Amino acid sequence: MIEQLIDCARWAPSWNNCKAVRYTVLEKEEQLQKLANTLVASENIHIVKNAPLIFVISNVKKRSGYERDGHLSSSKGESWEMFDAGVACQTLCLAATELGLGTVIMATFDEEGISKFIDLPENEEIIALIACGYADDMPKAPRRKEVAEILRFL
Ligand SMILES: Cc1cc2nc3c(=O)[nH]c(=O)nc-3n(C[C@H](O)[C@H](O)[C@H](O)COP(=O)(O)O)c2cc1C
Repeated sequence: MIEQLIDCARWAPSWNNCKAVRYTVLEKEEQLQKLANTLVASENIHIVKNAPLIFVISNVKKRSGYERDGHLSSSKGESWEMFDAGVACQTLCLAATELGLGTVIMATFDEEGISKFIDLPENEEIIALIACGYADDMPKAPRRKEVAEILRFL
């Protein structure tokens, strides 16, 4: 199933098809305990403690947003790295939903600590964590803005 999820995520679009997003799986009990107890923000401890699996989403630096000659060609500069990781995360989460799994994207954690813990290659940086597993229940989604509030026709 893990490979199925990444097989979907790899089809997410990326800047100039640079394919810079990487996925590291933590699923051993001692890995998850260490992550939960020392490497994530307090609001995420209970999520990591209850998840059977965490994906660490990372990005190979200086690819997304960059041209082949090394210059940043758009006004958004390096922020396309976050965009690419975002669409890849969403694709992974939707694929997980399709398989009957639940996910939580998490953004508050000890980036340096987790990079060391998973022996992240020097040329990558961590973007997000995704907890994944079978959900105990299906909470009601928090409200969204109405379409009319966020859509403009000119
Ligand atoms: C970039 C990003 C970072 C997030 N970080 C966290 C987080 O650290 N902890 C958490 O519990 N949820 C996190 N979330 C989940 C959001 O809080 C959640 O998607 C939002 O409240 C809407 O709820 P819903 O996805 O259940 O509809 C994050 C979501 C995104 C997209």
